[in-house]
Amino acid sequence: MHKVIFDTDPGIDDAMALLFLHRHPEIDLVGVTTVFGNASVDTTTRNALYLAEAWNIDAPVARGADRTIDPARKEGHWPTAIHGHNGIGDVVIPQSISRQADPRPAHQFIIDTVRAHPGEVTLVAVGRMTNLALALQAAPEITKLAKEVVIMGGAFDVPGNVTPAAEANIHGDPEAADIVFTAPWKVTVIGLDVTMKTVMTSGYLAKMVEAGADDVRLLSDISQLYIDFYKSRVGDGMVVHDSCACVYVVRPDLFETRSGSIRVVCGGIADGQTIQKPDGRGFPPSPWDGLPSQIVTTGIDPDGVLEAIRAAL
Ligand code: BDR
Ligand code: CA
Repeated sequence: MHKVIFDTDPGIDDAMALLFLHRHPEIDLVGVTTVFGNASVDTTTRNALYLAEAWNIDAPVARGADRTIDPARKEGHWPTAIHGHNGIGDVVIPQSISRQADPRPAHQFIIDTVRAHPGEVTLVAVGRMTNLALALQAAPEITKLAKEVVIMGGAFDVPGNVTPAAEANIHGDPEAADIVFTAPWKVTVIGLDVTMKTVMTSGYLAKMVEAGADDVRLLSDISQLYIDFYKSRVGDGMVVHDSCACVYVVRPDLFETRSGSIRVVCGGIADGQTIQKPDGRGFPPSPWDGLPSQIVTTGIDPDGVLEAIRAAL
């Protein structure tokens, strides 16, 4: 059984990933932590609480960072064309939600949970990495206590999706991502190199609705705006970015990987770019030297990943 804390900014593809983690028989979802990104943290937290209530997810939900780790960065632009004004496709949700957030801030929840289960907890982060960076700053020993870290973010051998250099989750807090990638723990990064190949068509989703319960219908309703957005980019369907990272936890065999230390460009025209120095490649001394070797996914079996999602949902 994989104990997972899901750090997320729901977010439409985040919602699918949450349902996958909840439903997968080999995953024990021990907590959901929220972060700003696809919407403000107030909105992503409300969405996480709403989805937890709607889908009977018992795991605690802890509210996380509302801005970048570097206070000098400017905030406040939300990708409403992709995720809607409410972060979940403008689907109307109840005014009042009975589920309450955990009293602790997300980074403290992460620290406490990892300490309570040494060597057992996988941190899956599919938004800005601010909560993980704050947890590392407050309790650096969590690098020895977490089992592993799986990230959706970055663009290594392909263009970004916010700028030609940068992917959204990294671009939204580059300093935080650099802290997480350079810390001495095991990180696997699932970037646009593989997620952009994993497109769930609207027909595939419709078949899941037919076969599934009301949970999947809600997910489908939430996803329609996102599918519309991706029409001009991938044709029919939705790119299931965040679910790819969740599937990796249970099916790493569906991915090809490359090892090497990772840095994030912080500032300038390539702000938020992720660059890996592949292990074994010689270079003159550089800011990648002496850092832990991390894993970047370079290949994916998209059909296998979609089937894993379908089977769990
Ligand atoms: C990432 O950005 C967000 O819009 C998605 O939820 C995903 O985590 C893709 O770049
Ligand atoms: Ca996300």
